[in-house]
Amino acid sequence: MAGESGLAVYLVGGPVRDALLGWPLLDLDFAVEGDAPGLARRVAERLAGGCSRDVRVTAHARFGTATVAFDSCAKDGGRIDLVTARRESYPRPGQLPRVTPGSIGDDLARRDFSINAMALPLTATGEGAEGGLLDPLGGLDDLRAGIVRVLHPRSFVDDPTRLLRAVRYEQRFGFRIDRATMSAMDGAVAKGCMDAVSGDRWRHELERILDEANPVAPLQRAAELGVLAGLHPSLGKHGAGLGRLAALACDGELEGEMVGPDECLAALFSPLSAVEGEGVIRRLRLSGRRAALSRDTIELRESEPQIRACAGKPSELARMLAGRELAAVSAWAALTADPVVAAALRRYAGELRLVKPELSGGALLDMGVTEGPLVGEILARLRDARLDGAVNSRDEETALARALLGRARAAPIPQGGGE
Ligand code: CTP
Repeated sequence: MAGESGLAVYLVGGPVRDALLGWPLLDLDFAVEGDAPGLARRVAERLAGGCSRDVRVTAHARFGTATVAFDSCAKDGGRIDLVTARRESYPRPGQLPRVTPGSIGDDLARRDFSINAMALPLTATGEGAEGGLLDPLGGLDDLRAGIVRVLHPRSFVDDPTRLLRAVRYEQRFGFRIDRATMSAMDGAVAKGCMDAVSGDRWRHELERILDEANPVAPLQRAAELGVLAGLHPSLGKHGAGLGRLAALACDGELEGEMVGPDECLAALFSPLSAVEGEGVIRRLRLSGRRAALSRDTIELRESEPQIRACAGKPSELARMLAGRELAAVSAWAALTADPVVAAALRRYAGELRLVKPELSGGALLDMGVTEGPLVGEILARLRDARLDGAVNSRDEETALARALLGRARAAPIPQGGGE
């Protein structure tokens, strides 16, 4: 379609790198010498006219970028990223760049690493249109030699998020960061350049590491290079949790559980105090499930003595862990060095949290319990009794409910007592 409009279009960056490496292609990125959002809208129209459904275009006029996402009847659907080939300048280090349209050569030169700065011409017009790989910055040689190399020494000052990207590529591909690049990284960290980048951008790059097949390795590398401490000083305490996770993964001790994003995030937060944890949550603007996972991991570590004390009392354990983010419970079960705590957390996650009384609230009302807080209180006591093995059948639950009802009529049931 670009060809029809006389626009030169190139496959660029990640997919070119991955195709050359023989890795599977997940996303397709295209650079257009011209209006990428306009081309994206025309592509979307044509896709919508074919067998694609739910075609969506998201365009960012300021950066000349657009994404076309669609469901397809042939496959699971897809995503195409188009960027207007551009030049970038960074008026202030760490802030988003100022962009102006440029040639494919300009576009390759503004990129992060040489291995990401290659393009494949797809149309009969434009630079390299005879069909060869466009590689003005030595990407292919670096790809063959397994080297992560920045294109200019200010790269990490302009865009410090590249610090995390460098370790991600290095560890994903088993490459090494070249010496000049490494000293540029050290310089950017030492100068405090990381402070200028927003929490949202750091979180985004961190999440991309967490989504890697093996996230522990790049996190450990980022820790070693001082990049985690540069993100937030408390993350300088990383070693304990990440080291434990790496050892567990290496020894195959995770019992088939993979070391995924949740375990890694938990490992990062596990050595921190609650106050430090809140500082990191604020810096990275974590919210929702990930913030809860981070907080709950710290709380679980701090509550180890109490968890140990009630490990043999299922109802107390269940009450203590109720409402915790399940991923934090599983992650801390893997990370803790205390086998009693680990077993208690696994038992809660696998079994205890699912225990419910057979009698429903409706059944209690039928037995004459008046609607109100008493229903919930009796249900909680029935659940405790189930957990502790004090009742094992519906009849036994009914007998206990009657007894509790009789007692409540005489005097209110105290909250949280055992049977
Ligand atoms: N890029 C960059 N600097 C950044 C982010 C991205 O120069 N801070 C460039 C790189 O050339 C990269 C391309 O934009 O190849 C697309 O970025 P992204 O989708 O993040 O990376 P991919 O190369 O597609 O890599 P991945 O396999 O991790 O998705």
